Amino acid sequence: MNMLDILHHPLWAFCAALLALVVRLQRRGRWDPKACNVRLKGKTAVVTGANTGIGKFIALDFARRGARVILACRSEARGTAALEEIREKSGNSDIHLRLVDLSILDSVREFAKRILEEEKALHILVNNAGVSGLPRQITKDGLDASFATNHLGPFLLTNLLLDLMKRSAPARIVTLSSVNHKKGHVDFAHFHGENLTYYMDKVYNHTKLHNIICTNELARRLRGTGVTANSVHPGIVLTKVLRHYPLMVRCIFNFIGFLFFKSPEEGAVSSIYCAVAEDTEGITGKYFDSDCSLVLPSPLARDPALAAKDFEMCERLTSKL
Ligand SMILES: NC(=O)c1ccc[n+]([C@@H]2O[C@H](COP(=O)([O-])OP(=O)(O)OC[C@H]3O[C@@H](n4cnc5c(N)ncnc54)[C@H](OP(=O)(O)O)[C@@H]3O)[C@@H](O)[C@H]2O)c1
Repeated sequence: MNMLDILHHPLWAFCAALLALVVRLQRRGRWDPKACNVRLKGKTAVVTGANTGIGKFIALDFARRGARVILACRSEARGTAALEEIREKSGNSDIHLRLVDLSILDSVREFAKRILEEEKALHILVNNAGVSGLPRQITKDGLDASFATNHLGPFLLTNLLLDLMKRSAPARIVTLSSVNHKKGHVDFAHFHGENLTYYMDKVYNHTKLHNIICTNELARRLRGTGVTANSVHPGIVLTKVLRHYPLMVRCIFNFIGFLFFKSPEEGAVSSIYCAVAEDTEGITGKYFDSDCSLVLPSPLARDPALAAKDFEMCERLTSKL
């Protein structure tokens, strides 16, 4: 048997099919949004970072369920392309683009002001937008740009929209964190770009820990209001999230990801589950894994004293005083 015969052997096809099956089973969540018939007619949802990746598929799902969907994006061109695609695929014309740069607090205030002026209600807020691997940049608010984008901008946005959400209750806040939060730690100097190592996901991991800590504290503060707040891990998802990483890392991520990682549509499932499923109604202050199961986040993320302190610190950093 020569080399070509070996390569053409049916065993290879069998192994490839088996591998593909294992990968599909591993990627599949325990909840299927297509089998969930919850309708969102008459409901309004805001999804940040909805022009690409996971956020676009979350917005598309809400649009298909009949919601009024606000795409909160920073680029008019990229946002408009997504708006047109979502309108076309869902057949829902009640989809709108509003511009916001989450790394700039005044932009967040401007965006929230417009939402409060234009929207009668807000039932779902998905804090999806995020960045990883940004080099050191300090914003005009004096904040590290990754912390501003991933945590402090969304933190301010959520707080500014809270009264509207309370008036619209039942309402749900979903924040995309990451399993990487387990590698993060809390040092309040990080907010200003101090004591940080700017390499790959090092800064990102801290921001994702703060996401869960503050979401849990928010949930405690919201008890009895009918507004819930939870965090999710979407899975390892093949998106453009590594766009600021070295080329070699991106090539390896894309190659392995093509075979094994979730697609952006699959990555949207745990967030959609948290935002619309009947099973998750009333659940608050929890962390959902990518297969939609409830799991415990890291011990730091579960420390209520730390959470109260972190929340107050973030309130101070995002207030205008
Ligand atoms: N992909 C994964 O494996 C993975 C794993 C765990 C958690 N997550 C989390 O899932 C979320 C979505 O990630 P993804 O993988 O879909 O990433 P992505 O494809 O890179 O999309 C990120 C989105 O955030 C937007 N964004 C970035 N900076 C922004 C800013 N300053 N203001 C407003 N919008 C901004 C981007 O807008 P532009 O297109 O204009 O840049 C884009 O729409 C993130 O929070 C991420 O941390 C992802």
